[in-house]
Amino acid sequence: MTFPPKTIRSFTQIKPGVIISLAVEKGGAGKTTSAVNIASGLARWGANLGWRVLLIDIDPQGTASNAVGQFSAASSEKTLAKLLDDDHLLLRPHEFIAPSPWNPKHLHYIPTNRQTLGGMREKLISKIGRERRLSRVLNPLRSDYHFVIIDTGPVNDVLTQNALVASDFVLIPINLDFLGLEAINRTFQLIKVIQLGLEQERPKILGLLGTFYRKGVLASEEALKMLNDKFSNSVIRTVIPLNSAIPDSFSAGVDIYTFNRYSPGATAYNRVVHEILIRIKKIQEQRYG
Ligand SMILES: Nc1ncnc2c1ncn2[C@@H]1O[C@H](COP(=O)(O)OP(=O)(O)O)[C@@H](O)[C@H]1O
Ligand SMILES: [Mg+2]
Repeated sequence: MTFPPKTIRSFTQIKPGVIISLAVEKGGAGKTTSAVNIASGLARWGANLGWRVLLIDIDPQGTASNAVGQFSAASSEKTLAKLLDDDHLLLRPHEFIAPSPWNPKHLHYIPTNRQTLGGMREKLISKIGRERRLSRVLNPLRSDYHFVIIDTGPVNDVLTQNALVASDFVLIPINLDFLGLEAINRTFQLIKVIQLGLEQERPKILGLLGTFYRKGVLASEEALKMLNDKFSNSVIRTVIPLNSAIPDSFSAGVDIYTFNRYSPGATAYNRVVHEILIRIKKIQEQRYG
């Protein structure tokens, strides 16, 4: 699935090196699903423009990295944890990047290994500059990648903090079945603390993304209404429906577009990619004129 050429051309001015985290302090929100399908969607849509997309998985579970790497990540020596370690300050991050079998030319990733990243989380606690390690890894990569998508874990730990500190934008997925207003508020709070603590305007909230939407089901409709009432313009207009093609594509080891491009999940993620591009373009225009 690709953008119609005319649509994609309107995004050629988007400046490269845009870093987006998927984050919310809650599991089962659709962070990982959204990270991999948005990363893959951006890589597909920008293929004719030569865009390259890098997926970073800073959740020690390693689900996103395993998905885009089709489970080759587990055996890799060159994993994200090593790059975050100060024993390896001089390593070149470029050498840790692997092409995704999904789309080797346009979608790349850095393998995440559960043990080593879990261990690094403990090790970082006592380290100088512990929240800025990922920033340091990604900075030299910004000119090579149009987009870097970061999947985070469900807790506010030093790894999630690294993701947010490194990001220009945060996209917050919200499960409409268990609308966790408290989790949303905690995530907003964490973003604010980072902006204040680092005296910078980054990361900005790119949007809240409703997931697991069940049309016509009262709980789902009410949750969506509450989200819109409370956060209005911050809510991405497309919602991701509850759709069995999504877990099935995971099991099949492919992205949602390859699994079934006509599925409700593929259509929705495709629209979300479009909306994200519109939002980024608008924000960049305001910033750079
Ligand atoms: N829209 C959806 N419809 C059906 N199942 C989904 C949907 N989005 C995610 N899932 C499934 O729900 C589970 C949790 O989603 P995941 O993206 O891993 O959430 P998180 O990363 O926030 O914990 C996974 O098994 C995933 O395949
Ligand atoms: Mg996850």
